[in-house]
Amino acid sequence: MTEITKMSDTYTLSNGVKIPIVGFGTWQTPEGEVAKHSVETAIKAGYRHIDTAAMYGNEDAVGEGIKAGLAATGLSRDDLFVTTKLNNDAHSFDLVQKAIDTSLSKLGLDHVDLYLIHWPNPAGFRDSYPDSLKDTWRGMEQVYKDGKARAIGISNFRQQHLDVIKADASVQPMVNQIFLNPSDLQPAVTKMNSDNQLLTEAYSPLGTGKLLGNEEIKKIAAKYGTGTAQVLLRWSLQHGFLPLVKSVHDNRIQENTALFDFSLSTEDMQALDALHGVSGLATDPDTTNF
Ligand SMILES: NC(=O)c1ccc[n+]([C@@H]2O[C@H](COP(=O)([O-])OP(=O)(O)OC[C@H]3O[C@@H](n4cnc5c(N)ncnc54)[C@H](OP(=O)(O)O)[C@@H]3O)[C@@H](O)[C@H]2O)c1
Repeated sequence: MTEITKMSDTYTLSNGVKIPIVGFGTWQTPEGEVAKHSVETAIKAGYRHIDTAAMYGNEDAVGEGIKAGLAATGLSRDDLFVTTKLNNDAHSFDLVQKAIDTSLSKLGLDHVDLYLIHWPNPAGFRDSYPDSLKDTWRGMEQVYKDGKARAIGISNFRQQHLDVIKADASVQPMVNQIFLNPSDLQPAVTKMNSDNQLLTEAYSPLGTGKLLGNEEIKKIAAKYGTGTAQVLLRWSLQHGFLPLVKSVHDNRIQENTALFDFSLSTEDMQALDALHGVSGLATDPDTTNF
């Protein structure tokens, strides 16, 4: 049973790699000083897990933030878990090899801890799907075998996408990162994840901020003397998910680590589970225009 007592507690992936239970998100964090500062601040605040993507256009600054954070805390690279993701324009074996090298060079790292296929069926490769996805997974396996990622996985995948890669895989994916908060519990996908030894990472745990003003969640937060962000992150952890939370503000980055001095009751967990649809649902990966 995983402990949830501090930011450095870990889940264990199916290949034995340990992954810190809360990740720091960087989507929509501008490249440059903002991304650098927020990542450095997060490491100083106790986050041990940073989530970025080629698509976010900020890997250079995230890498600088990692360097600055390690220097400021005296931690070593091995104390930190870093994830990046394959861009939607790189869905082939060869393109994956170029993409990981570009990401590593921008981040200033010789390996990442987790490399994910960002979307299963991007618009630019839809004509060649599912063959392009199979070829892409072979490329991901090569990245893993070359030691450029300690774990590999998928994001925004549903059953039909997992089926495409599972049949021929020599390395099975270890993580599926999905849109997951009380507004969309995605029960079919989380069941698929646990049935296939995939850790469920919960992106947009605050509904990209949209859930923070919800009256029901505010009432629950008041009962525990905490904030709505903390209730949502705690909900995710108590479900056994790994929330990835983003902020560019120092005070919020700090606040979002205050997750370990309260525990939501079964009744409040159920009340949160019942909020389906209040701030949007997961995007259908087969019909996106990117
Ligand atoms: N795999 C994928 O396809 C995918 C898709 C989306 C996201 N993700 C990952 O998941 C991460 C998190 O998701 P997300 O960025 O959608 O949003 P989120 O973490 O659910 O919410 C972030 C928003 O909430 C605000 N916020 C954060 N903490 C707050 C607090 N304590 N009080 C008030 N406001 C607060 C932030 O504002 P400020 O920044 O202004 O403070 C920002 O607007 C991403 O950054 C990314 O790493 C992955």
